[in-house]
Amino acid sequence: MAEIIRPMTETDLPQVEEIDGTAFTELLTRLRNQPINLPSHEKEYFRSWMECDPEGSLVLEGGGEILGFNFCHARGRMGWVGPIAVRLDAQGKGIGKKLMVAGLDYFDRVGTKTVGLDTFPENPVSVSLYLRTGFRVVGGLFLLTMGIPPKQDHAVRVAEIELDGVDRIAVLDEKASGFDRRRDYAMALSSGLGCACKVVGEEDNVVFGLIRRGAALIGNFHLTGDGDVEARVGALVEGTLDFFRAKGLTNVAVLCRGNDKRLLDALFGLGFRMNPTLITMHRGENAPPAPLTSPLAIEKG
Ligand SMILES: CC(C)(COP(=O)(O)OP(=O)(O)OC[C@H]1O[C@@H](n2cnc3c(N)ncnc32)[C@H](O)[C@@H]1OP(=O)(O)O)[C@@H](O)C(=O)NCCC(=O)NCCS
Repeated sequence: MAEIIRPMTETDLPQVEEIDGTAFTELLTRLRNQPINLPSHEKEYFRSWMECDPEGSLVLEGGGEILGFNFCHARGRMGWVGPIAVRLDAQGKGIGKKLMVAGLDYFDRVGTKTVGLDTFPENPVSVSLYLRTGFRVVGGLFLLTMGIPPKQDHAVRVAEIELDGVDRIAVLDEKASGFDRRRDYAMALSSGLGCACKVVGEEDNVVFGLIRRGAALIGNFHLTGDGDVEARVGALVEGTLDFFRAKGLTNVAVLCRGNDKRLLDALFGLGFRMNPTLITMHRGENAPPAPLTSPLAIEKG
């Protein structure tokens, strides 16, 4: 059966969506020992990733069918991989590795210096695949979750950031993490899948909230680290919860590095609880000091 790896097209999306939903549902059900239904990413993500990285959004086709895909995101000097998945009946036959090698070739062509990804440490296949293709473990990423509580008042005031404010956040974020996420932020706000909030009067204290796979996820915090961290985190989280409540969501997750205990403590104080941890792996030049040391900033696609 002839196999080719090629850039994804719009007509591939139904098969990509199907694989994205079933491969991760099967994986998490197995890893967590309980039935977990993980829907596919929303179409808006696939379309925006294909638009940002037409040559980095890859499928492997065999016998006229899509057997796997790999989304590679080049963002300035940094890039990240994911999601990457192979159809259940085609796993373990070298397809994931071929897709990864093709993706790394794309990063080389566009001059990305460091490539990052997050994965489940208890998944031997993905961890082996990444180690085999030159990644190394650089840190951990905590997944914290809680039920969305009723609306609460906070002394610190926050305001929503509109689309025209995205550039400023993107610059801050790039300085802290090395990733230029301007287009991802713009897509999140313009599609209605994301929201961003800032502390009133403190333009550098911001947070992003996203709906991914139908679930509420608090993405990047950026806090300057001075002042009352707890109060600022509480108010910023509340800003995103308003957005999620309006969408009818009842649970929220936050991805958070363990490099600044103040952020973790603030989140625990709000009622977040620890879930399984992820590991972050990098390949290429040493990444800039952030995200592992940047104050209160996290990196995640
Ligand atoms: C992870 C995934 C993309 C890998 O693709 P794959 O086609 O199944 O994997 P491959 O056959 O290309 O194997 C790649 C490497 O994984 C390792 N591997 C494969 N099967 C393995 C197994 N059963 N146990 C341990 N390691 C294994 C091997 O090191 C292999 O490299 P090698 O051939 O040089 O030894 C695929 O299994 C998948 O879609 N899983 C579910 C979704 C997922 O986990 N995505 C990644 C999340 S971050």
